[in-house]
Amino acid sequence: MIIAVTGTPGVGKTTVSKLLAEKLGYEYVNLRDYALEKGLGEMKGEELELDVDELAENFERDFKNKNVIVDSHLAHYMPADLVIVLRAHPKLIAERLKERGYSKAKVGENVEAELVDVILVEAIEENENVVEIDTTGKTPEEVLEEILDLRRRGVKKRVGLVDWSDAYDDILPYLRL
Ligand SMILES: Nc1ncnc2c1ncn2[C@@H]1O[C@H](COP(=O)(O)OP(=O)(O)OP(=O)(O)O)[C@@H](O)[C@H]1O
Ligand SMILES: [Mg+2]
Repeated sequence: MIIAVTGTPGVGKTTVSKLLAEKLGYEYVNLRDYALEKGLGEMKGEELELDVDELAENFERDFKNKNVIVDSHLAHYMPADLVIVLRAHPKLIAERLKERGYSKAKVGENVEAELVDVILVEAIEENENVVEIDTTGKTPEEVLEEILDLRRRGVKKRVGLVDWSDAYDDILPYLRL
């Protein structure tokens, strides 16, 4: 089974994916590292530009029928049995990315993406089985528990529960207006 863990940069994908892989005994795959290993994509300055179709074809060849957790903001473009979209209050995203030293523009871009559900909408367009998890105010272990609980209950679709519109005034300083 392939489980994709996706979401806005800084939302906690890597942290939660590693916990989940360890708990389930699945292989952990960071999509960026995988692409680099395979010689896929092109470096444009600091950024690795990837052709998602090419990436998905390679991924399918290498991981079909394996038990894998794939971690990336592009993970929902991989052939997955389940897509987990992690969400976090846009202010948390802003603070985490600022702390990482991201530029104002890059912080703004990602805060806006979280605000308007970009990754969630992309995921829904790609896959039937999408579950959304609000990580705000939870520890990584609590998020892991929530994922395991959904799994136990056989929930394959759970979307639409996150709405950041009330956060708008709070995050105004981060938006690129
Ligand atoms: N509930 C939570 N779930 C996951 N991470 C959390 C949570 N609470 C706080 N964090 C923290 O959020 C930070 C962001 O984590 P992480 O690097 O996993 O994000 P990411 O989504 O993988 O980012 P990127 O897209 O840049 O790879 C970490 O410092 C992590 O400890
Ligand atoms: Mg990561």
